[in-house]
Amino acid sequence: MKLSEALILPCDFTNTPFVLLFALLLTLPLLILFAPRILPPKRLTISLPDELDDLALFRRALRSTLHPPGSVSRLGSTNAKPKIAFLFLTNTDLHFAPIWQKFFNPANSNHRKLYNIYIHADPDSDVKSPGGVFENRFIPAKKTQRSSPTLISAARRLLATAVVDDPLNAYFALVSQNCIPLHSFRYVYKTLFQPRTELTRFPARLSFIEVLSEEPQMWDRYIARGKNVMLPEIPFDKFRIGSQFYILTRSHSLTVIKDRKLWRKFRLPCLNVDSCYPEEHYFPTLLSMEDPKGVSEYTLTNVNWTGSVDGHPYTYSPAEVSPELIRKLRVSNSSFSYLFGRKFSPDCLPPLMDMAEKVIFRE
Ligand SMILES: *[C@@H]1O[C@H](CO)[C@@H](O)[C@H](O)[C@H]1NC(C)=O
Ligand SMILES: *[C@@H]1O[C@H](CO)[C@@H](O)[C@H](O)[C@H]1NC(C)=O
Repeated sequence: MKLSEALILPCDFTNTPFVLLFALLLTLPLLILFAPRILPPKRLTISLPDELDDLALFRRALRSTLHPPGSVSRLGSTNAKPKIAFLFLTNTDLHFAPIWQKFFNPANSNHRKLYNIYIHADPDSDVKSPGGVFENRFIPAKKTQRSSPTLISAARRLLATAVVDDPLNAYFALVSQNCIPLHSFRYVYKTLFQPRTELTRFPARLSFIEVLSEEPQMWDRYIARGKNVMLPEIPFDKFRIGSQFYILTRSHSLTVIKDRKLWRKFRLPCLNVDSCYPEEHYFPTLLSMEDPKGVSEYTLTNVNWTGSVDGHPYTYSPAEVSPELIRKLRVSNSSFSYLFGRKFSPDCLPPLMDMAEKVIFRE
């Protein structure tokens, strides 16, 4: 064979075995690249050891409410005030830690006695502690993933840990790393604990969680685990949708921790991953079944669903951050102003910090 002939060999399509091999080598990386889009993505399920760990934690939480350790000295003799437990559910660094740090204002010793912080960070995402009020506030966490029941488990873990940790935790506010406060801590505390005599429809303590029933996607969401799977515990007319982030009373946190009946259904993996958002259904369905009069049915966390993409709400960018935006986000249709807002992109931090004192924490 002449050298010139050897050089053109790769282009010689009459050499069939070679072409096959060449085609195979070419398609392999393409397959690896596109397989996740062709095959249904693998979703996390709840393993038995994880389930047992959680059950042990929940039992501890329920026992602690029967005989709260040190409750006599902590609750009885002192005039201790009820606290808000802030539950951060995250799978990235807490981008807005500096603004929350200002919100909690640990230099104010009165504030310090009125809140606790707990963080559930996906162990695979290597979240760094932002220090300050967040130091040592990470709880034992497990892997989380969208479109799987793991986000419900993470929230229940946060609730149970906060119940065990401090009998004074009276409200439990679940937020994400993309949430920001829209008011000062003082304002938030006053909103939650103000006497509600003028609102006689509601009990003294109300959980603030969105509960909706007539949304167009409900049937697909209901049958996401298969037809009739939710029966008999959850008939379709009891199935609800609501926000993933909420503020629960202690009594409703215990309702969530105690629940086995609905969890047995919601922990099942979805067959239809596109309609699988268990965390948006479990809490509103459970609480509206167990105590319909004890829930506001609206949320105090402002989310912009206009122009949502792939099930994610609208994310504000730095150019949109302004005092007007903060004021606009506070306005709600309920008797309360929105307390938190989401979602903000991480690079919104500088403009938000610039107006923290003058605008956000002004009231
Ligand atoms: C909500 O998002 C849309 C874009 O989808 C935007 O035009 C609108 O201004 C946002 N609403 C508020 C209150 O910022
Ligand atoms: C308040 O309710 C009205 C009527 O349902 C609705 O058009 C409006 O967008 C709501 N505003 C807010 C801030 O939720």
